[in-house]
Amino acid sequence: MINSNSLTDISRPIKSELDTFDAIFRQTMRSKIGLLDLVARYIIRQKGKKIRPLLSLLSAKISGGINERTYRGSVLIELLHTATLIHDDVVDNADKRRGMWSINKVFKNKVSVLMGDYLLARGLMIAVDGKDYDFLGVISNAVKRMSEGELLQIQKTRKLDIDEETYFQVISDKTASLIETCCLIGSLSATENTDYHSAMKEFGQNLGLAFQIRDDILDYEGSTLLIGKPVGGDIKEKKITLPLIYSLNRVSKNKSSEIKKIIKNGANKSDLKAVIDFVRANNGIEYALVKAKDYSTKAKASLEIFPDSPTKLALQALVDFVIERKN
Ligand code: IPE
Ligand code: IPE
Ligand code: MG
Ligand code: MG
Repeated sequence: MINSNSLTDISRPIKSELDTFDAIFRQTMRSKIGLLDLVARYIIRQKGKKIRPLLSLLSAKISGGINERTYRGSVLIELLHTATLIHDDVVDNADKRRGMWSINKVFKNKVSVLMGDYLLARGLMIAVDGKDYDFLGVISNAVKRMSEGELLQIQKTRKLDIDEETYFQVISDKTASLIETCCLIGSLSATENTDYHSAMKEFGQNLGLAFQIRDDILDYEGSTLLIGKPVGGDIKEKKITLPLIYSLNRVSKNKSSEIKKIIKNGANKSDLKAVIDFVRANNGIEYALVKAKDYSTKAKASLEIFPDSPTKLALQALVDFVIERKN
């Protein structure tokens, strides 16, 4: 049994490969341009969980084996992920990321926008230089979907009228698209077996949905210290996510308008507590947990075509980590 609370335990089958990834990633971030290098070094100090490289390495390993192409794919995805977080914090006006000040807080919006673009281009260049044209196709699609997801979210935020169906569209595009891509790229790097490619893509898609639902739950019940960003940040930014969508649908029109009004007027500290209590009282968190669990079960089912192995156990444990995670 692998302890699914510990990413260290889960990464054990590919520990040395993750170290190799880390070294390449850090090297790729560096630059001769002073300001770029300064921001890059700050980003390297802001340690992320590295779930996406973990996923692409494990996806390659289960599909046939880790090779040079797997590393290029993993670095490319983590660079892209880093770029989107920097942009996301500008869009969301976020001060904190990974327990440290966000890039926009320290270096301001101009630098953040350009740094995000730079990291995205840097990532795409890795695929061009390595002639990984299959990666470029899937990655461009993911980038397009991530932007669509963030824009659809902004459109809905303005009107506060998001329903469950639209919520799933948003999270599928802004988050699951990249997680699905990292599993697919891992598999593409390792085998030509298209059944394996499809299985890993489907695995990533379901895992990605569960991952974002969990992220949205943590905004209601997480510990700021552990998640490294303030709890209640979504409400403050007028982002209506699954726990709240469900709760709003369960109450009278009057009550629902009252809660929306609080959010619209820019919730202060006691308002935040009122909205969080409202969601708790209406079982919004439990409902979202059930949904996350459903997707995690679907993700595990996609692994059925692979023979049993320590890598498969690690992927299964990673699914549990994603829905139980506290950070
Ligand atoms: C944060 O992703 C953005 C979402 C899709 C919710 P992670 O939680 O994987 O971020 P880091 O890389 O570990 O900081
Ligand atoms: C996920 O959305 C961000 C991206 C997919 C780039 P959130 O806005 O919920 O992510 P956090 O909470 O800031 O990490
Ligand atoms: Mg955000
Ligand atoms: Mg969030």
